Amino acid sequence: MKESPIGIFDSGIGGTSIFKEIRTLLPYEHSIYLADSANAPYGIKSREAIIALSVKNTEFLLERDCKLIVVACNTATTNAIKTLRERYDVPFIGIEPAIKPAALNTATKAVGILATKGTLSSELFHQTTDLYSKDIAVIEQEGQGIVELIEAGETNSSAMEALLKEYLKPMIAANIDYLVLGCTHYPYLIPMLSQMLPSHVKIIDSGQAVAKQTKAVLEQRQLLNINNETPKQLFYSNGNVKVLDAILEHRYAVNYLNF
Ligand code: DGL
Repeated sequence: MKESPIGIFDSGIGGTSIFKEIRTLLPYEHSIYLADSANAPYGIKSREAIIALSVKNTEFLLERDCKLIVVACNTATTNAIKTLRERYDVPFIGIEPAIKPAALNTATKAVGILATKGTLSSELFHQTTDLYSKDIAVIEQEGQGIVELIEAGETNSSAMEALLKEYLKPMIAANIDYLVLGCTHYPYLIPMLSQMLPSHVKIIDSGQAVAKQTKAVLEQRQLLNINNETPKQLFYSNGNVKVLDAILEHRYAVNYLNF
């Protein structure tokens, strides 16, 4: 079991931002990454559809013997992780927008959150936001169209710039000092966002926290791979393999699979 892989899934290529954090913290773990790009974006789907896709992805990874599953997608976590935990014995690590650190540290009492419709409308997101946003303004913005552009390999295009400009406008007007990235695709936009935001605005995401939590759970359950050999890291996509390969800087073998 210790030498079994960690399973990671996302609606597409965004969860590779989480894979990279996990690889840095846990360099000896084998992993299998599943990009369900043919069904991206999840963010505009119903809760039931997101649960059904998350179940399908989980079964794919369990059939390949994964010892732990990282739901590297805020939309899938906020809508489906409860069902997954009820249905399967394997430990699940999820990702949620980092509202708490932003709310606790804001000096301007205004924080921005950019996420999908599916995340912003979920019960889990509302619970967290209500808990931490009593005396502050939370400017919520749906990142409509962003995932589609990233999945098409357009992380740096003028179309992306135009969308972000529009989405940041109300946040800048509200004088935010934290921007929370609530979607695992969005860390790839940090270079562009940093140029567009006033310099005092800090951009935060939950990637490192997810990697730390993955490590902690593997330790607790005595599932850490103690074999210090170069691990096997497999990538599967049912969408455009070239875009996944490019976001991974051509460092891994990427496989197309019709699932
Ligand atoms: N990476 C997913 C997330 O974190 C994107 C969701 C989508 O496909 O809309 O929410």
